[in-house]
Amino acid sequence: MSLIDHWEKQIESIGVNERKYISSQVNTIGVGVVRDFCNDALLYEARQIWRKVEPLVVRRDVTIKHEVTSKRIMGTASALQIDNMTREIFELYTLDVFVQFMAEITGTDICLLNDNLERYVFNFLSHKGDMHGLHVDSFSYSCSLVIYAPSTNSGGVLQVAKNYTCFDKDKVASIIAEPGDLIVLSSSKFPHRVSPLKQNSQRVVLNMAFTTEATKNHLSYSRESLYS
Ligand SMILES: [Fe+2]
Repeated sequence: MSLIDHWEKQIESIGVNERKYISSQVNTIGVGVVRDFCNDALLYEARQIWRKVEPLVVRRDVTIKHEVTSKRIMGTASALQIDNMTREIFELYTLDVFVQFMAEITGTDICLLNDNLERYVFNFLSHKGDMHGLHVDSFSYSCSLVIYAPSTNSGGVLQVAKNYTCFDKDKVASIIAEPGDLIVLSSSKFPHRVSPLKQNSQRVVLNMAFTTEATKNHLSYSRESLYS
């Protein structure tokens, strides 16, 4: 079976009740997780693709100002770079079953992003101090496949809050992700970050962006500094 076949099968295996629960989480606290979304074969296939793309990763250390000022210290690979190595991520991103799943979870008419750099990306935290600083995204939703997760107590935790003030008060939802988890995030409404790595470790996610008809042609404020 190919990566796409595995992907389709795993999406279809998410039951009605789990979908309802994840949808309610996404719409109330901003984030919902399909735990153990990947079976061993799918995680293996995803890691094989990551291995192809990894040599293209560019290390970034930038400060971005948009609503708040925050840092991104991490490696990235853009959709353009991914497409140069494999068409499988494009096929996975555009799969009807997947887009319908995202529409069901978010309760909206979902559109794919018309951005050849940022519609799907790999984000890679590896060194002590690496972080994906606090921000909201220009696109409405993201769906992230966790390919490698940092070891326990190494930081690199996804944190999501209802607004920036909640972050000041530590009222955040912290997601300790495991390899193979699928994370759906209401990424334009809920400020979020990945906390700094406390030691060298590996956090690799394939992040896929979804948005609405009205914003599908918008280009994000961070695409040039993170993905070009
Ligand atoms: Fe984000």
